Amino acid sequence: MAKAIEINNGNGFEMGEPYFCTECNRNHTKGKIYKEHLEFARINDSEEKDSNDKSENINDENDDEAELLKVLDDLEDDSNLNENEEINEEINENDDQIEDNSNNRSNKNECIAQVKKLPGVGEATLSKLIKAGFDSLEAIAYTPPKIIQDESGLGEKTIAKLIKASMEKLNIGFKSAEVIWEHRKNISRITTSSQELDNLLGGGIETGSLIEFFGEFRTGKTQIAHQLCVNVQLPKELGGLEGNALYIDTEGTFRPERIIQMAEGLNLDHETILKNIVFGRAYNSDHQILLVKEAANLIKEKNIKLIIIDSLIGHFRSEYIGRGTLANRQQLINTHLHDLLRLCDIYTDLAVVVTNQVSAKPDVFYGNPITATGGNIVAHGSTIRVYLRKGKGEQRVAKLVDAPHLPEGEGIFSITEEGIKD
Ligand code: GTP
Ligand code: MG
Repeated sequence: MAKAIEINNGNGFEMGEPYFCTECNRNHTKGKIYKEHLEFARINDSEEKDSNDKSENINDENDDEAELLKVLDDLEDDSNLNENEEINEEINENDDQIEDNSNNRSNKNECIAQVKKLPGVGEATLSKLIKAGFDSLEAIAYTPPKIIQDESGLGEKTIAKLIKASMEKLNIGFKSAEVIWEHRKNISRITTSSQELDNLLGGGIETGSLIEFFGEFRTGKTQIAHQLCVNVQLPKELGGLEGNALYIDTEGTFRPERIIQMAEGLNLDHETILKNIVFGRAYNSDHQILLVKEAANLIKEKNIKLIIIDSLIGHFRSEYIGRGTLANRQQLINTHLHDLLRLCDIYTDLAVVVTNQVSAKPDVFYGNPITATGGNIVAHGSTIRVYLRKGKGEQRVAKLVDAPHLPEGEGIFSITEEGIKD
C-alpha cells in the first residue's frame, strides 16, 4: 500500500502508463495498483496461484482511476481514524451487551433445565411447554391447569402431574408466618424520586405486588410511569433494582423525550436508559392481553424488573359499551389482572404498576363522587392503590386508599421538567 502511494506521488509515474512493480513482480494496469497490491499483501506464497486467479477477477471488474484515487484519499484522510475510534467504542459497548444477554440466556437455560428434570418430561413435552412460555418451575406451578392446557396443547393428566411436581420442588404449601416475614423483610423497592410518595408507599414501589395509580386526567399517572422506568435501572443503593422496564402503552402517551429529561435529571446516560426500556403499544384489549402473555417470556431474558401498563382499563371500557356487555368485560379484565398477579407471584423481584382512569358517579351525594373504572374487580386485584389528584401548579396529591400493610395517608409531590420531585 505504502509503495502504491509512493508510486502515485513519486516521479516518473503517469496515470495510464503500464508500470512494472518490483514489489510484486508484475505489470500493473492503470487505476488498479492499490487493489492489486492489497491482494498481493493478503495472500501467502503458497496460495500465489489462487491469488493470480483472484487478481484476474479483480481485473475483470470495471474499476477506474476515480475509484483508486478515492481509496488513496480515504487512506490519508484523518477522519478515518476518528471513525475507527467510534467503531471501536461501539464494539466495546456491544461486547457489554453480549455479556448481559449471555448471562440472561444462561439464567433462562437453568430454568429450562429444571423443567426438563420433572418426571415425565421428554423432548416433545419440553418443547411444547417452552413454546407456550412455561419455561420455569414457577410458571408451571402458579398457572391454572386450564391455561397451560389451552396454550401448550398438553393433556390434562400430564399437566396435573407437572404442576404437582413443580409445587413440590418449589416447596409451595403451608409455611410459617416467620418464613413469610423473612421474605417480606427482604423485599426490594423502586424509588419514585419523591420522598413523600416513597414514605406513603412504605419506602417506594415494592416488588411482588400489583400497584395501581388512579386519578383524573393530568394528575401524573403517566409521568410516574415514565419516572419508574428510569428509576428501576438505578443501582440498589440509589433506590433502583438494577433491572430493565417493560412498558405497555394503551393510549399512545409514551414519550421518549420525557425519559431523556428524567434520565438527565438524574445524571444518567439517556441512551442506555432508553435501550433498557422494552416498549409495546397495545392497539386493543385483545392485543393488550396478548402483550402481557408475551411479556412473561421476556422477563428472564431481558432482566425485566418492572412492568407498566398505562392504562389498564381504557381499551376494555371503549370496546365493551352498555350494560349487556358488562359481565363479559369484567370477566376479561379479571383474567387479565390475574395474568399480571401471577407474574408477581412467579417473579418475586418484579413490580407491576398499572394506571387507571376515574369516572364520576353522579349518584353519590356525600364523599368523593369519583371512583376508579373497572369496578370491584380491579380494586380487589390490585395489592396497593394510590389515588392522585391535582394540587397547586405542579403539585399533585397522592392518597393511599388501599394497602394490606400500610395506613391510609396522603403525600404531596411535584411534576417538574426533570421528572417527579418532592
Ligand atoms: P391522563 O393520561 O390524561 O389520564 O393523565 P395522566 O394522569 O397520565 O397525566 P400525566 O402523567 O400525563 O401528567 C400530565 C401533567 O404532567 C400535565 O399537567 C403536564 O403539565 C405535566 N408535565 C408533563 N411534562 C412536563 C414537564 O416537562 N414539565 C412540567 N413541569 N410538567 C410536565
Ligand atoms: Mg396518562
